[in-house]
Amino acid sequence: MEQKNEVILKVENLSVSYGHIKALRNVSLEVKRGEIVVLVGSNGAGKTSIMETVLGVNTPDTGTVTFEGRDITKKPVDKNVRGGMTLVPEGRGVFATMSVLDNLLLGAHHELKGAEKKLNFVFDAFPVLGQRRNQLAGTLSGGERQMLAIARALMSTPRMIMVDEPSIGLAPIVVNSIFDILRGLNREGYSILLSEQNVYKALKCSHRGYVLETGAVVKEGRADELLKDPAIREAYLGA
Ligand SMILES: Nc1ncnc2c1ncn2[C@@H]1O[C@H](COP(=O)(O)OP(=O)(O)O)[C@@H](O)[C@H]1O
Ligand SMILES: [Mg+2]
Repeated sequence: MEQKNEVILKVENLSVSYGHIKALRNVSLEVKRGEIVVLVGSNGAGKTSIMETVLGVNTPDTGTVTFEGRDITKKPVDKNVRGGMTLVPEGRGVFATMSVLDNLLLGAHHELKGAEKKLNFVFDAFPVLGQRRNQLAGTLSGGERQMLAIARALMSTPRMIMVDEPSIGLAPIVVNSIFDILRGLNREGYSILLSEQNVYKALKCSHRGYVLETGAVVKEGRADELLKDPAIREAYLGA
């Protein structure tokens, strides 16, 4: 249980703006090693901004990001990926005109040496991608493309994976299988920061959650408690 209390990601008082638009206001959150933590909130709440700022895509106005005890505020993306974190972007970000295999190799571009072993690992985890390794990514189904995006992220041997709205545009049964995959990865030891508008399923799959509204955390807690919260049920679960 002691390991569960080790904080892998700590975000403190993070504020981010795009020009005059304030996207995040003093956001603080943490992910403990071995947790699935979900950021819940409607469109524009700030979920992507949090993930992109943690990864190093955006520069914060204020605040700090600490990963495995190291201050990584304003560190560039490539350093952070090498350092053990990765992002599965919103909209999956796979290259439609490239093969499944080449998409995966891109995920390991900073260290091609161990790529063979990592390929075997992801083809083991996602047999369907192995069968389709030479197929163009654009010909995959939505669910398979999401699997490819997750598999590509694993190619950089991360310890923490951020997954931005994986369920968007997928049929409910496919959404279930993507969440099953994330839970499976979590059982294998990956820490996961997830973002979702599919609040019910996301909370069901997570240990803890943060509710975001217009760039600020308005509520946080254990996922099972958030699921029972009357205000959350009314706002996000239509109950
Ligand atoms: N590149 C950008 N330029 C200007 N405003 C942006 C940009 N990206 C996001 N925003 C704004 O920042 C806020 C947070 O957006 P975002 O982090 O994408 O939220 P979410 O992922 O929860 O939908 C929104 O008001 C959005 O319009
Ligand atoms: Mg987003």
